Amino acid sequence: MKAVLFDLDGILTDTADYHYQAWKKLGAELGIELDEAFNEQLKGISRTESLALILAKGGLEAQFTVAEKEALATKKNEVYKKMIEQMSAKDILPGIKTLLYELKEKGVLLGLASASQNGPVILEKLGLEELFDTIVDPAKLSAGKPHPEIFETGAEQLNVSVQECIGIEDAAAGVQSINSAGMAAIAVGDETTLGAAAKVVASTNELTVDLLTAVWAESVG
Ligand code: G6P
Ligand code: MG
Repeated sequence: MKAVLFDLDGILTDTADYHYQAWKKLGAELGIELDEAFNEQLKGISRTESLALILAKGGLEAQFTVAEKEALATKKNEVYKKMIEQMSAKDILPGIKTLLYELKEKGVLLGLASASQNGPVILEKLGLEELFDTIVDPAKLSAGKPHPEIFETGAEQLNVSVQECIGIEDAAAGVQSINSAGMAAIAVGDETTLGAAAKVVASTNELTVDLLTAVWAESVG
């Protein structure tokens, strides 16, 4: 195992909930009610694609021009940016800091594979930016999760093969992306939504170097 590619929202920090709250607020303004089950579909996918799914849920896709949709996405992002303003190292999810430091100590490369354009800012707020060897820029990809490109690009940027990586995710689209890239996936969350991963754990606390190494070793046989 030469590298680990991390999703951000819901793995390094609990911004997955902030995204949900911000979308819920926009949805309410449009008369579209969002619940947690629906929100699972929004995890891992881009801002534009999320808005498209929300508008489709309310049967409002045809009601807005491209420019109006852009304004709605920006409105959501402004609410989200307010929510993340006060974030700091205290918002790193349990076990993550220890895991990152232990991986670094072992010489394992770390990459960020998040669809979020806010990724670099959040890493900085968490004080983790120096630990990461690379960040995939989601704006440069031709396809988002569940397409494998983001994880493939992460491996390329680190100069390792996909077989030498592990991917960590909390979204079904993300697990699919990792699997399609030919990497072993570890998911954090619910077995029913994330069962396609090689291993599912309930909490980030369970992500240890030993677990990652064992899952990787099993994946390469
Ligand atoms: C991640 C999150 C999504 C979010 C997307 C875009 O994939 O899981 O919930 O919509 O990033 O984030 P952004 O910060 O660019 O709006
Ligand atoms: Mg996520």
